[in-house]
Amino acid sequence: MSAAQSLGRIAAAATRLSGACAGVASFAPPPLCGVRFGGSGSFGGGGGGALSSRRTLSRGSGGGGVCGVGGVGTSSSPRWDVRRTSSRWVATATPLPPSPSPPPPPLGTMAAAAPADATKSISDFRESYSETPLDEATVDADPIAQFRAWFDDAVRAGVTEPNAMCLSTVSAAGTPAGRYVLLKGVDERGFVWYTNYTSRKAADLDAVPAAALTFWWPELERSVRIEGGAARVPAAESDTYFASRPPGSRLGAWASDQSSPAADRGVMEARMAALEAEYYGPAGAAGGGEPIKDIPRPPHWGGYRLTPTLVEFWKGRKSRVHDRLCYKREAGGEGWTMTRLQP
Ligand SMILES: Cc1cc2nc3c(=O)[nH]c(=O)nc-3n(C[C@H](O)[C@H](O)[C@H](O)COP(=O)(O)O)c2cc1C
Repeated sequence: MSAAQSLGRIAAAATRLSGACAGVASFAPPPLCGVRFGGSGSFGGGGGGALSSRRTLSRGSGGGGVCGVGGVGTSSSPRWDVRRTSSRWVATATPLPPSPSPPPPPLGTMAAAAPADATKSISDFRESYSETPLDEATVDADPIAQFRAWFDDAVRAGVTEPNAMCLSTVSAAGTPAGRYVLLKGVDERGFVWYTNYTSRKAADLDAVPAAALTFWWPELERSVRIEGGAARVPAAESDTYFASRPPGSRLGAWASDQSSPAADRGVMEARMAALEAEYYGPAGAAGGGEPIKDIPRPPHWGGYRLTPTLVEFWKGRKSRVHDRLCYKREAGGEGWTMTRLQP
């Protein structure tokens, strides 16, 4: 084992323990390790919790018990002193005094993976994809059925918000715009999402009734892109979906004049408070009860359906020689033609 590998192993062990209370971990030293870690050697600390981890933390091989999950990147992330005994490496955590540096933003659930080195150059971020193929012989002849199969895979793989998709539109002036929305339905008629009919995207779709949708499921190294015409769904369909939403989301649809400027956040909070008082009674939603009357769908809120004319499935492969299978709707609109595209 090289000295660099030894260093990495020790840092990794310290990382597993970081964010936890002060403690000691030990693990067997690598043979012929030429790197010396004196009592002054330290990992982390001072750097704003660079070693903190959200994973459940367990002690190294020689330690007993389990440390709890530590605060994420708090200023009290411990300093790690590592020394070698005759048979083991020993890492000792010492809590640091509060650091003046601002704490990092709270991490979402997607951040369960170990954080990347914050000093890494953007140009050095690259993944090496697996060799799991996307094969003409095994895909469904119907791209909607194929999409559903991949979507189910994404759900099973635990992708966070697998129905999040980038919706791309173009304005009357030809200005493109992209933003994420949530897929709320898919069948042979197309792909449905819901939004505010006075938003920027709605203005784009009113002017240019065509759009593109893009999914990215990193855990599976898969992407899907879809193009086609887009139109509002019938009002009854929007009503049905709106009624299925949680009360807070239904009120939120009334409170937001989506895509319009707001003087400050207080504008929407005041609107929400007034709506909650109206629909929950004087105690508002904080009382924990149910709305006291029906929350109707705002007339300016509803769905769009994209009718696909192109659906492309992309699978990352080794050395950037990816797989791409592109379905195009045949003239007349009945069947689909599938073509392999170069990556
Ligand atoms: C993951 C995710 C899902 C979103 N889902 C929706 C959605 O379903 N409908 C929606 O109107 N906005 C959704 N948004 C907010 C939009 O991205 C966007 O901010 C908003 O619709 C205004 O876009 P516009 O000004 O281009 O119309 C979502 C944002 C994210 C990050």
